[in-house]
Amino acid sequence: MQSPLIESTIRFVKERLSGAESGHDYFHVERVYKTAMLLCEGMEVDTKVVALGALLHDIADPKFHGGDENLALSVSRDFLLSQNVDEATIEEVLFIIKHVSFKNREQAPKELPLELMVVQDADRLDALGAIGIARTFNFGGYKGSPMHDPKLAPRLSMSKEEYKKSEGTTLNHFHEKLFLLKDMLHLERSKSMAAGRHAFMEEFVQRFLSEWEQKDVESQ
Ligand code: ADP
Ligand code: NI
Repeated sequence: MQSPLIESTIRFVKERLSGAESGHDYFHVERVYKTAMLLCEGMEVDTKVVALGALLHDIADPKFHGGDENLALSVSRDFLLSQNVDEATIEEVLFIIKHVSFKNREQAPKELPLELMVVQDADRLDALGAIGIARTFNFGGYKGSPMHDPKLAPRLSMSKEEYKKSEGTTLNHFHEKLFLLKDMLHLERSKSMAAGRHAFMEEFVQRFLSEWEQKDVESQ
């Protein structure tokens, strides 16, 4: 059973994210929320803060709101105040929303609260595996990026270093970000959840490049 606060947060987030790009829509939030709740099991952690942080973490992603980094914080604060949430809890939830993002990782404090670790791991787990691949190509299409371009990004023969330097294709996003995530997870449980998803993405990229170059059919 969900508390009335969690239920009204779910309604609020669904409403706000209706029509969002499908890699950052309510279903992404729901997967992150469910994974975060799984990660909380057996841990001493404030599950209310984790639940609210997971549900609100993508409420106003700056990349869909003209780069505005503060909108998510003000929207979330206003919502939580309207639900009579106490100030200390609001601050903890806003801290999660502010620091969860991969691209803000350099500004993050050294010592992270466990609640942030849980939400961050859950968000990162949803960037991996089959869903991670689907989200990435969906977002690449949304931005109008080429899937792959052998002039910009690697052929099978290219080294990882060369790959990293090339920019702008969706396939390149795997090297810019997705393959790095498994080593950035905080909890042992998240790491074991990530292993299969990571291996699947590696295999996917290998197969993609092999099919691109007809390597897989040449020998038939
Ligand atoms: P975070 O919320 O951690 O800052 P993003 O919102 O940038 O992360 O990324 C979430 C997901 O969006 C990624 O896992 C990926 O699937 C997709 N994505 C982000 N940037 C790109 C990109 N440049 N090309 C393709 N997909 C992307
Ligand atoms: Ni997210």
